[in-house]
Amino acid sequence: MSETLQIKSPVATGEKNVFDVEKIRSEFPILSRKVNGKPLVYLDNAATTQKPRAVIDRTNHYYNYENANIHRGLHFLSELATESYEKARLKIKEFINAMSASEIIYVRGATEAINLLATTMCRSGYFKDGDEIIVSHMEHHANIIPWQIMGGRKNVNLKVIPITDEGELDLEAYKKLINEKTKLVSVVHVSNSLGTINPVKEIIKYAHAHNIPVLLDGAQAVPHMRVDVQELDADFYVFSGHKMFAPTGIGVLYGKTKYLDKLPPYQGGGDMIRTVSFEGSTFADLPHKFEAGTPHIAGGIGLGAAIDYLNQFDPMDILRHEENLLNYATEKLSMIDGLRIIGTAKHKSAVVSFVVDGIHPYDIGTIIDTDGIAIRTGHHCTQPIMQRYNVSATARASFAFYNTLEEVDLLAEGLNKVIKLFK
Ligand code: ALA
Repeated sequence: MSETLQIKSPVATGEKNVFDVEKIRSEFPILSRKVNGKPLVYLDNAATTQKPRAVIDRTNHYYNYENANIHRGLHFLSELATESYEKARLKIKEFINAMSASEIIYVRGATEAINLLATTMCRSGYFKDGDEIIVSHMEHHANIIPWQIMGGRKNVNLKVIPITDEGELDLEAYKKLINEKTKLVSVVHVSNSLGTINPVKEIIKYAHAHNIPVLLDGAQAVPHMRVDVQELDADFYVFSGHKMFAPTGIGVLYGKTKYLDKLPPYQGGGDMIRTVSFEGSTFADLPHKFEAGTPHIAGGIGLGAAIDYLNQFDPMDILRHEENLLNYATEKLSMIDGLRIIGTAKHKSAVVSFVVDGIHPYDIGTIIDTDGIAIRTGHHCTQPIMQRYNVSATARASFAFYNTLEEVDLLAEGLNKVIKLFK
């Protein structure tokens, strides 16, 4: 095997490949495996997505031919690894259209990104006793708990934007929540449980009119739609690599320089310093100030490869295909007796959460798994949503661009089988 890897790459010319779902499926090795003797029907993409060969090969290539620590050595491999890792940061910067690569902080995932912000914002003295942070009723636990842990020490209170029965944010209520104590608005871009695509531009505009910065949890958005942080004017944007076809354990915190510059380091250690002495230390500039210790080098490079992979497609083709999947799944599942979809917002990503009269979601998930169909059941790390709809759990089918209408048919067949069994 050669030392330089020829990965079919992003169409450097800017030309886009034809969207061919069968070809795409052939590029994800796991999609051709069987589960319980049946072809895998993978509909748990909101939990994590599968990885294309290009990402797997790029990660293997790093370990086979480039492995060394980064930012530390002058030897050939260290420089090579550093170059690959920093090139990936540039790809991320382009992917979300950040102003500068130094605004891209590598983290473990969206969860760590929010913990980083909660910790450093609280430590910096940004919040005072009695200040308020606005979140919404459809937040993932990752956008609730860090504020409770860190903000709680400062008596910072969470104010919650209510959601309608359809699963949309009540924007009028949001506007009323804003007052002189509001110091941050932190909301999810696309709900992992309901699929709702929130009107984040409007939310940001209103917050900015009151000089309040906005953090968006984009973990469920970036794999499905093009996100432009400058166009949105988001102050912070966080996401996880593993939900966008990249390895686990790598993710991104984007922040405007004017905010990140003012925040103290998150963790202390190697690579985040300028000078160290026992009397006191000084810290590196962005982005390294927030990146203590040896990072997930292969993960960062793999995330770059996932972006290359995605870049070969026209984002509109992905959007259209996923819209078809959503519409078809909504239609098919709505026809099933006793099945109720939770989350029927007008603007939705391809996530269908549902409950079936008299059958626990765990039973649904377990039984259709015997047919090789993978969905998630539970509260999806969004217990407040379950409380809002008065259910203990839902079953959730979540789609990616490699799913097909035939897989929706198999899901519907599987659900009908479960219902027959219980009758
Ligand atoms: N937050 C992930 C999900 O929605 C794990 O399943």
